Amino acid sequence: MTQRARRIEPVTRPLHGELSVPGDKSIGHRAVIFAAIANGTSRIANLSGGEDNHSTIEAFKTLGVKISGDDRLLTIEGKGFEGLAAPMKVIDCGNSGTTMRLLSGIVAGRPFVSMLDGDASLRRRPMKRIAEPLEKMGARFESNDGRAPLNIHGGALKGIRYATPVASAQVKSAILLAGLQADGVTTVEEPQQSRDHTEIMARALGAKLEARGNIVSVQGGPKLAAFDISVPGDLSSAAFFMAAAAMIPGSDVVIRGVGCNPTRAGVIDVLRRMGASIEMLDQKTAAGEPVADIRVRGARLKGVDIGPEMVARTIDEYPILAVAAGLAQGITAICGAKELRYKESDRITVMTEQLRRLGVDVEERDDGMIIEGRGRLKGASVQSAGDHRVAMSLAVAGLSADGGVEIDDTACADISFPGFFRMLERIAGT
Ligand code: S3P
Repeated sequence: MTQRARRIEPVTRPLHGELSVPGDKSIGHRAVIFAAIANGTSRIANLSGGEDNHSTIEAFKTLGVKISGDDRLLTIEGKGFEGLAAPMKVIDCGNSGTTMRLLSGIVAGRPFVSMLDGDASLRRRPMKRIAEPLEKMGARFESNDGRAPLNIHGGALKGIRYATPVASAQVKSAILLAGLQADGVTTVEEPQQSRDHTEIMARALGAKLEARGNIVSVQGGPKLAAFDISVPGDLSSAAFFMAAAAMIPGSDVVIRGVGCNPTRAGVIDVLRRMGASIEMLDQKTAAGEPVADIRVRGARLKGVDIGPEMVARTIDEYPILAVAAGLAQGITAICGAKELRYKESDRITVMTEQLRRLGVDVEERDDGMIIEGRGRLKGASVQSAGDHRVAMSLAVAGLSADGGVEIDDTACADISFPGFFRMLERIAGT
C-alpha cells in the first residue's frame, strides 16, 4: 500500500470559507447494505468515495448483487436476503470494521459459508463481540482466536435478547441485521446508546423496529422496500475542519449539508465547552437524519473533561479532540474511552506518542489520556500508524505547529475522506 509522506505548513492567518465534506461513511455502508437486501432497484447518491464504502460495495458484488454507477450515483438491484449467493472467493473487507461486522450479521443468516478477511489493521481487531451473539442466534464462526479471517457458516437464525458489554453500533447493527432474518424478535441492549443509523433506515424501509434509548427490538422476516437516498455529509469528516477553525482564533468556517444525528454529535458539545462558537444553520431532515450547515468560529480554547458519558457519541473524534486539547489552555482529561484501543490503530497510544512529539505533555491511561495544553504546538515529524483519522488529525495539528509537521503516511486519509488534503490546503490558504 502506498504511504505518501506530506508536509503541512503552519497557517499565517485565520481560516475562512465554506466547504462541503464527502457523504457520511456510516450511512453510506448502511445504504449499500439495505439496498442489497431490499426488493427492487435502489439509487444512492453522494457516497463518500472512500475505500471503506468501496469495501462494502465490493463485498455485495461478491455475494452476487448487481451494482452499477459510481459514488455520485450508485444503482443497486436488491432481490431480498434470498437474492444473496454463496461467495466464490474470500470477501475482502479491507480496513473496514463496519464492513466486516455488519456483513457478518447478514451472512450469518444465509445458507452458505462466507470467508471474511481484511488488512493487517482489521485482522488485529476484536470480532468475538459479533461472533458470540451471532452464534447464539444459530450461526457458526471459525476465526483466528476471535479475529479475522472469519469463516461464517450461516443458516436459520432465531431471535435472541442480548446485552452488549460495550456500546458499539457495529455490534448492535450486526445483531439487528441478523435479527431481520431470524425467527421471532431480536432485542439488543447497550450500556450506552450508539449511533442509530441502522434503526432509522430499517424502519424507513418497512422493518418492525422499536427503539427506546439504548434498547432496540426488531421483528424477523420483513420484506424491505427499495429506496432512493442522498447521503448527508459526514460529521466525522467535518470534525477535522470544525476543530481546525475552532482552534485558530478569528477563523470563521461554514461546512454545508452535514449529518448531525445526536447519537454522533459529541464533538459539537465538546468543542463548544472548550470555547468555540458553533451554530447549526438551515436545519432540516434528509433520509430520516438531521442535517445542517455548521458554522464554526475559532477562539482560544480551554481544557475540559471528556468523561465516559461522551464515549458513544464522540467515538471517532477523540484523535482530533486530542489535538484541540494539546492546543488548549489547561488540562483535558479523557476517561472511560478504552474502546479507542480497538480502532484502526490503538488511538490512545498513538495519539499520546504523536502529541508528545508535538511538545505536549500527555499522560497515557488505560482508558484515556490526560493532556496538558500548551497553547502552541512544536513542529515535528509524526506518524499516522496508517490510521485515517490520526493522519487527518495530525494534519490539522500542523496548521498550528511552529515549523509545521511532516506526516509519514497520509494515503490512508482516502479510507474515509478522499480529497481531504486539497480541501485543507484551500481553506488554510497554504
Ligand atoms: C461505526 C461505529 C463505530 C465507529 C465506526 C463506524 C458504524 O464503531 O467507530 O467508525 O458505522 O457503525 P464501533 O461500533 O466499534 O464503536
